[in-house]
Amino acid sequence: MAVLGMAAGVFLAAQLAWPQLNFAEYINFGRLRPVHTNVVILGFGGNALLGTSLYVAQRTSQARLFGGLWPATILFVGFNTLAVIAVVGYLFGITKSMEYAEFEWFIYWPLILVWVLYFVIFTGTILRRREPHIYVANWFYWSFIVAVAVLVIVNNLSLPVSLTGTKSYPVWSGVQSAMIQWWYGHNMVGFFLTAGFLGMMYYFLPKQAGRPIYSYRLSIVHFWSLIFLYIWAGPHHLHYTSLPDWTQTLGMVFSVMLWMPSWGGMVNGIMTLSGAWHKLRTDPVLRFLVVAVAFYGMSTFEGPLMSIRAVNSLSHYTDWTVGHVHSGALGWVGFMAFGALYYLIPRLWRVPRLYSQRLVELHFWLATVGILLYITAMWVSGITQALMWRTYDDQGFLLYSFSDTVVMLHPYYVTRFLGGLFYLAGMLVMVWNVAQTIRGVHLRAPQARPAAVAAGAQPVPAE
Ligand code: HEM
Ligand code: HEM
Repeated sequence: MAVLGMAAGVFLAAQLAWPQLNFAEYINFGRLRPVHTNVVILGFGGNALLGTSLYVAQRTSQARLFGGLWPATILFVGFNTLAVIAVVGYLFGITKSMEYAEFEWFIYWPLILVWVLYFVIFTGTILRRREPHIYVANWFYWSFIVAVAVLVIVNNLSLPVSLTGTKSYPVWSGVQSAMIQWWYGHNMVGFFLTAGFLGMMYYFLPKQAGRPIYSYRLSIVHFWSLIFLYIWAGPHHLHYTSLPDWTQTLGMVFSVMLWMPSWGGMVNGIMTLSGAWHKLRTDPVLRFLVVAVAFYGMSTFEGPLMSIRAVNSLSHYTDWTVGHVHSGALGWVGFMAFGALYYLIPRLWRVPRLYSQRLVELHFWLATVGILLYITAMWVSGITQALMWRTYDDQGFLLYSFSDTVVMLHPYYVTRFLGGLFYLAGMLVMVWNVAQTIRGVHLRAPQARPAAVAAGAQPVPAE
């Protein structure tokens, strides 16, 4: 899913640089864009969240999965089948045309059932725990599961035109529809791409660093303040619209306040490395996790800044937003997922170590260069574009036409395309490394793997 979603992203980036690539109806920019966003967010991010949450819940609770293997298998197959059907539908133009909520009613209902199953498995596992307290990572995962259910149910309430057709229309209309859509959109970022991934951070970062979390107390403050503040910030997506002014101001103020818990969480993650900084020199997996936290800090500084109305008048509609999105998506979400997967793969397949640390290192550098090319190109193009749009001559006429700005964007779009290629190349290196690890090719003799594990030579520590 990650490879497919990122390849679609690279192709979209190429289409923006060279519009002639919009040569076929099914893969033109408009159809492919939701394919990209849905596959990377639901397919890549979603599977990373499902897999790690069920692992972490079992580990930290010292309990097996609630209901055994079958419910979890149904969850995995159901979630992915629905994602694939939805995404194939977009290629054929079957869409509700609401960003991040494009799926039609026939995906919506089964998706809710699958999500309720997820809630039951996760909560059931936590309730069976043999540990007295619930580790903070589970709080974050649990809030993500509950919040996503509420968001998806409310925003996607829609009426099918007929039970035999694919088309439906939302029950919300006008400005209420916009507000609910961005309450949903922003909190999908807040709970899907942030709270869930913070759950990952609170488990995998201390594990890989071999240190306890810096402050358990701070993590609890982080949790409650983050989930309280996030829910109110959605209107920052609707500045200068017909949404009442006070609602826009409310969204702005809560977004600025959100900076504090976000940085509290970042500090908690970074400080966990106190006394273990030297490990960064030799451990590329830890480097992925720490740089992810640094990108989290960066995008949660930039977000509150962009939510200030005056700044938003510059950034909205420009590539600055796209740069912000991808510093969070590639840097925070991507790196955290990579770090967690590199940690998990040898443990799940019971092999002593990854096939190659040097390939992890290569992945790290390819991805880092890729992100830097991507986001710096978008910052420069976004701000230039915005300034060109608001430049007037002495008579008060606009100095630049829209097409002037489009011509100016070309070199930056080529740079973004190159950045995407780097990031995708790193992903392919990971796929190869993981496949080789699972096959156990690095354990010299063919019999070495079972023998090594049986002898308890170095089976990776379970906890
Ligand atoms: C304190 C945290 C954050 C705040 C206050 C914030 C704020 C904002 C603002 C003001 C916008 C631009 C809205 C517009 O002009 O339309 C935006 C867009 C966006 N942000 Fe953030 N952001 C934060 C963190 C993040 C993180 C960590 C991620 C990713 C993991 C992220 C993903 C996005 C996405 C996907 C959009 C684009 C939405 C769209 O228009 O399609 N944000 N954010
Ligand atoms: C190889 C890596 C990637 C490349 C080259 C890429 C490229 C792109 C491009 C070209 C767009 C359209 C921008 C526009 O409409 O102007 C886009 C949008 C988007 N991508 Fe990516 N992407 C990549 C990875 C990811 C990942 C991993 C995520 C999430 C985890 C992600 C989330 C998004 C989102 C949320 C949008 C919509 C942004 C908005 O509406 O402002 N992308 N991407």
